[in-house]
Amino acid sequence: MAESETILQVENLVKHFPIRQGILFKSKVGEVKAVDGVSFELKRGETLGIVGESGCGKSTLAKLLMRLETPTAGRAKLNGRDIYKMGGSELRRLRRNVQMVMQDPYTSLNPRMTVGDIIGEPYEIHPEAAPKGDRQRRVRELLDLVGLNPEHINRYPHQFSGGQRQRIGIARALALRPEVIVCDEPVSALDVSIQAQVINLLEKLQDEFGLSYIFIAHDLSVVRHISDRVGVMYLGKIVELGTEDEIYARPTHPYTQALLSAVPVPDPEARAHREVIRLEGDVPSPANPPSGCRFRTRCWKAQEKCAVEEPLLVLRPAADPHPSACHFAEQRHVVA
Ligand SMILES: Nc1ncnc2c1ncn2[C@@H]1O[C@H](COP(=O)(O)OP(=O)(O)OP(=O)(O)O)[C@@H](O)[C@H]1O
Ligand code: SF4
Ligand SMILES: [Mg+2]
Repeated sequence: MAESETILQVENLVKHFPIRQGILFKSKVGEVKAVDGVSFELKRGETLGIVGESGCGKSTLAKLLMRLETPTAGRAKLNGRDIYKMGGSELRRLRRNVQMVMQDPYTSLNPRMTVGDIIGEPYEIHPEAAPKGDRQRRVRELLDLVGLNPEHINRYPHQFSGGQRQRIGIARALALRPEVIVCDEPVSALDVSIQAQVINLLEKLQDEFGLSYIFIAHDLSVVRHISDRVGVMYLGKIVELGTEDEIYARPTHPYTQALLSAVPVPDPEARAHREVIRLEGDVPSPANPPSGCRFRTRCWKAQEKCAVEEPLLVLRPAADPHPSACHFAEQRHVVA
């Protein structure tokens, strides 16, 4: 599926939010390092899964890629052009070309708008995308495409189930025929049985339209099926990046191994033999991350070097030839 053409290139992206204190004259007393040097490439037609615990910076990364936040440092290039330098018509094209599907199908749809108006709204913002007389037909086509009845075009969001509402969100994201869709936990609020249906729909649409996805989740099991590659995030950084096989069958970073050991295993036999790695302590504050390796306060393998030298996300051929940000990267088989 994945071709070799790079559509999105992210280079050392950083987003620090200032922490301010004071009543009249708010002065900066620190900063939340929400995203702290993230780099990756997304190929055309590829799905890159991004996984990590709550607060590790996933949504901030998504907003940076949508240009809803400006970065503190770093670049993101779409088709070779830095998105943070775009203005005028180029910025308008970016707004059409990169779309988002949000986590919560209950709050992300305006309850007072009909489904037709919700899905057709992008055409109001970008009238050049579809002539006025053709919009109804397109909205009906989009409803059909995402598996909803085009006759329900005048219904309101509350008349749909959670899974159906997420389909409405997907139809809206497709309206302007984007190249990239950033999905921020698109199935996390749905029942497990419905999750698979929505993921299958996203895969079908990807094949049909050659879409490229960034697919964010906090659980490795959710992204496995849909992702070609997966990046594991911890406290604002990607700590391991690899193909589905590299991450699930040959993980080398202790954090990935711990996340994998918490993935639900349906087969009782496999479950009995699975090794459970329990992480000690909580995720440290992104306002004050540990020195050296950020994972060291919870890592069972931590040594002195880990406190003084930051492990970079580089190839670790001795462990497995995929990037891992651990000084002592080594393969450990966790789940089948
Ligand atoms: N606008 C903001 N101002 C200040 N801090 C922020 C802002 N947005 C996010 N943060 C902080 O940045 C960190 C990363 O937040 P983010 O929402 O990106 O995490 P996340 O990985 O999406 O978490 P979750 O899984 O809970 O959605 C958190 O500590 C959060 O409190
Ligand atoms: S660098 Fe050290 S603390 Fe960090 S994951 Fe590797 S062993 Fe653990
Ligand atoms: Mg989030």
